[in-house]
Amino acid sequence: MIKITTLLNETEYVGKQVAVKGWVRTFRANRFIALNDGSSLHNLQCVVDFENLEEKILKQITTGAALSLVGTLVKSQGKGQSVEVQVDQVVVLGTADPDKYPIQPKKHSFEFLREQAHLRIRTNTFSAVMRVRSALAFAVHQFFRNEGFSYVHTPIITGSDAEGAGEMFRVTTLDADNPPRTEEGAVDYKADFFAKETNLTVSGQLEAETYALGLGNVYTFGPTFRAENSNTTRHLAEFWMIEPEMAFYELEDNMDLAEAFIKSVLGYVLDHCQEDLNFLDQRLEQEEKTKPQAERSELGLIDRIRFIIDNEFKRIPYTDAIEILRNSKPNKKKKFKFPVDQWGVDLQSEHERYLVEKHFKCPVILFDYPATIKAFYMRLNEDQKTVRAMDILFPGIGEMVGGSQREERLDVLEARMDAQGIDPKELEWYLDLRRYGTVPHSGFGLGFERLVQFTTGMGNIRDVIPFPRTPQNASF
Ligand code: 4AD
Ligand code: MG
Repeated sequence: MIKITTLLNETEYVGKQVAVKGWVRTFRANRFIALNDGSSLHNLQCVVDFENLEEKILKQITTGAALSLVGTLVKSQGKGQSVEVQVDQVVVLGTADPDKYPIQPKKHSFEFLREQAHLRIRTNTFSAVMRVRSALAFAVHQFFRNEGFSYVHTPIITGSDAEGAGEMFRVTTLDADNPPRTEEGAVDYKADFFAKETNLTVSGQLEAETYALGLGNVYTFGPTFRAENSNTTRHLAEFWMIEPEMAFYELEDNMDLAEAFIKSVLGYVLDHCQEDLNFLDQRLEQEEKTKPQAERSELGLIDRIRFIIDNEFKRIPYTDAIEILRNSKPNKKKKFKFPVDQWGVDLQSEHERYLVEKHFKCPVILFDYPATIKAFYMRLNEDQKTVRAMDILFPGIGEMVGGSQREERLDVLEARMDAQGIDPKELEWYLDLRRYGTVPHSGFGLGFERLVQFTTGMGNIRDVIPFPRTPQNASF
């Protein structure tokens, strides 16, 4: 059996007998099967001689059916393909009742396809997106391997809340209807599986820090979970995050690495996913045409990716960003839902998008945020007001990366935890890193689905992960 992409791209098979297997995308004129096996965006045209086919088999060649075909690969007479298979033998591996099979050869809405998430991979858009996703994941590992990083697997089940945001899913084996109780009547987690309260991790960072302070440069790339009730096009309850952590890196080194990393993985897909990106580029162009002129983006998908690779990210302190936003037209005309009136406010996605899409028109790295709006582990600046945080903001996406230099001074870290009401008992091991051989170190987290969204031009994050988990939805 040969993959369709090989037959379409390599000339040595012309004139030879080939065996292919795949799913019928369309069957026209009782003669032309468009077969797809997922190896390529393109279908292989397979021509059957219906006069020599049993009526029963002919009827079973319908959209969605799985076939095994043997025939001769020939140069195609028709337009639209360079080669085709003159079929000698057809075996129907699996039928697909045409009255019931949901994925018909017509345009389906993404909403409809989300309900068919187990079958949507058989469409051009989803197969293209998922091939790009797979290539990006490979590029991530390749980049870090080339840079000498070790890949570490941080735990999924943890007892700590890395982000201190309290948006965690509980992990328990206790009977929800009838949990054991303490004498005071509270749920007795001592009787739980781990003899303590545990949850799904929101980030592998804290554990990655321990490894950075021994292995040097490390990264994790795994699933993370957040029970935030955000029903947006950019939030998932289960998403994949890439988190490098580097000993002896200060914030500038961290920014340099993040920028080089993003450019590298985008370069990889430009080189290796041309066909899929061209298709997604055209898809986006069609979608843009349905929008009002003012909302259309100036660049096509591939040009956007090139733009990121070719241009330096703009780096500005939070304080400067606030000044820009304060004096911006939408702020003065009260167009922002959250007006920017004073230093210290958290930035909303409308502000981030204004900075990136309207003001700078390029990715922006914002740094030195107010300590009050950032996590406890970020390094306090000398001004005692700001921390060495950095967020990378992307056009169309908003926050792509969140990172920081870490607070390596024990006393300062303890004071920050205290100020944020974090119990040091659960994090003694984390404080130990500051007790024994502490060093400046830094890291960041990049939301993998947001990267896939940017790279594929998909508007909704639910369409770049196979089985999205969002509030009210964990089907499949
Ligand atoms: O900014 P966040 O919360 O940072 C951290 O978790 C740090 N511990 C990372 C680190 O320094 N090692 O999340 C990092 C990134 C965000 O910038 C965003 O791209 C993505 O993770 N992200 C989400 N992606 C999809 N759905 C969600 N609910 C997300 N929350 C964050
Ligand atoms: Mg963040």
